[in-house]
Amino acid sequence: MSEIDPAAVEADEFSKLAPLQAAVLSKLNEAADLAALETCRVEVLGKASELAGLLKDVGRLPPAERPIRAALRNALKETISSALETRRGGLEEAALTVRLSAERMDISAPVRPEPAGLIHPISRTMEEIAAIFGAMGFSVKEGPDVEDDWFAFGALNIPGHHPARAMMDTFYLNAKIGERRALLRPHTSSVQIRTMLEWAKAEATGATPEPIRIIVPGRTFRSDHDATHSPMFHQVEGLVIGRDITLAHLKGCLIDFLRAFFNVPDLPVRFRASYFPFTEPSLEVDIGRDRKSGEIGAGSDWLEILGSGMVHPNVLANCGIDPREYQGFAFGVGIDRITILKHGMADMRPLFENDVRWLRHYGFSPLAPANLHEGI
Ligand code: PHE
Repeated sequence: MSEIDPAAVEADEFSKLAPLQAAVLSKLNEAADLAALETCRVEVLGKASELAGLLKDVGRLPPAERPIRAALRNALKETISSALETRRGGLEEAALTVRLSAERMDISAPVRPEPAGLIHPISRTMEEIAAIFGAMGFSVKEGPDVEDDWFAFGALNIPGHHPARAMMDTFYLNAKIGERRALLRPHTSSVQIRTMLEWAKAEATGATPEPIRIIVPGRTFRSDHDATHSPMFHQVEGLVIGRDITLAHLKGCLIDFLRAFFNVPDLPVRFRASYFPFTEPSLEVDIGRDRKSGEIGAGSDWLEILGSGMVHPNVLANCGIDPREYQGFAFGVGIDRITILKHGMADMRPLFENDVRWLRHYGFSPLAPANLHEGI
């Protein structure tokens, strides 16, 4: 055991953290409105912040010093988080006062005929996706938002303590389902597992079930929050399993989908080798999009749009499907992301703010044809 002087370590750590704390707190106080505060939050607490770096480095500290330094670093995080909340409260109140005086309602005004309700852009995207894949013979499957870690990770060839679990920034619940940890599903892949298990069960009785051809739209959850990430978001994953399914089917299917969805018949689509624990080989898919104008299908830039691959033999085996007889492909797309891309929205957050004026601008009349060249 190396000799350390706890008081000296504490003093040293403190002398490093104090200037950071002072800088962060004054930055928070300078944020003039909620939007500035949000930018500030990402800067001071986000993954790229100095504090996140310090917390990450805790594991590399000499063991004797670790508890002392870690405690101070965690305390600093608490201090910053609570200062942020206090500042947010103050700014929210100020913003509300301004809004209340600007948006005073004239209750003596005559009633204006309200249009019928509108379809939210996310619901519309889900309808469009279901229509496109429906035409290719897929059916829609749903599953629970709360899953256990076997359905979310284990069955998908992501063993315990595998770093890929951290990739997903999962929200764990303080509860168990049987012996397993409960969580908010970070992707809808868990429903693919449920579907394959059911399918294998049916096959085991001697029946020859139809090949699997499903899409799984739904809510998903990850601890991530900025202009292009929401902690609650939507995903659609797809799964095809059969005897003769190949990479060519994956490519054809996804190219057709992307061209129909973005309504650009000659949309450039690029497949890039990648890695996911649940697929082998894995492919990341890019579409052509002009970075400057944001126009999809124009220019010479590429934008990553979805992940895909051939289902890993271990995943099939985990679900009771013989990988020597069957194979297939899977993919996952962020619904919110392709919605804001398609409609040229800059920020994902208004999707969930429930501002009726925003919905009037971006919402869809229930009777309007879908924004697809073939309609729904
Ligand atoms: N499940 C992956 C994710 O949420 C997406 C994906 C699905 C990738 C299927 C490949 C195959 O990030």
